Amino acid sequence: MKKDPMNNSRIKKKLHSDYEFLEGISRGLSHDVLSLITPIDTYFSYIKNYPDKAKELEEISANNIKLLSQIISDARIFTISNKLIKSPSHLKDIADYAIRSLASLTTKRKIKFKMEVDSEITLLVNFILIQRLLTNVLKNCIESNATEIIICSEIIFTKKNKVCNIKIIDNGDGIEKSNLSKIFQQGYSTKKSSGLGFTIVKKIIDLHNGTIDVSSKVKEGTKIIISLPIN
Ligand SMILES: Nc1ncnc2c1ncn2[C@@H]1O[C@H](COP(=O)(O)OP(=O)(O)OP(=O)(O)O)[C@@H](O)[C@H]1O
Ligand SMILES: [Mg+2]
Repeated sequence: MKKDPMNNSRIKKKLHSDYEFLEGISRGLSHDVLSLITPIDTYFSYIKNYPDKAKELEEISANNIKLLSQIISDARIFTISNKLIKSPSHLKDIADYAIRSLASLTTKRKIKFKMEVDSEITLLVNFILIQRLLTNVLKNCIESNATEIIICSEIIFTKKNKVCNIKIIDNGDGIEKSNLSKIFQQGYSTKKSSGLGFTIVKKIIDLHNGTIDVSSKVKEGTKIIISLPIN
């Protein structure tokens, strides 16, 4: 059989970009894991010397452990193939679950969540993955100093199919127009974080054959529209 040099170099290029992608993911994840584990170690030695601070330090450690398990769940997303386990799930339940999982961030600062999701909307999705998607999007809204976050939904009929639009609107700092195209780049972060949140979001949306649109105005806020097909 004749060798195809073009095809060979295409495969090499693809393998190289896959390698770079996974290298970035593991670098980001190890950064996040270490930044949560290192303080726990310090807290233990603190608790011995300052027993009166034990309760507070235990709470912080417990929260770090919760975040660690979320990060590990996120890491597993990149090992999922196109075959997903989906089940009919109420969108409102998923959104409520996502908000509850962010309690440790929202108790520090008063944030008003306005839930305008129709409790009748049922989607055929992987409940855990869509919850992780919403958690990542909402976490970004909280970190943008928003005081109000609206979550609403609508059902749209296109020529080809029926789609559920999930809209998340915050009144936070917003995103500069010139940076909008960068937010899905793996490792892009304006917060010295690992910049993996939207990479995970995009992967979950692709696994569900959906789309995402982000629009924003500096000092006014950001609007995210996630469209998921209704089978
Ligand atoms: N709602 C938002 N308001 C303002 N900026 C946002 C919002 N969502 C995303 N961004 C911008 O997009 C960047 C990339 O987001 P992404 O979630 O991928 O990474 P991160 O939040 O910086 O880090 P990580 O999620 O890994 O902790 C953020 O650093 C921020 O600049
Ligand atoms: Mg993020």
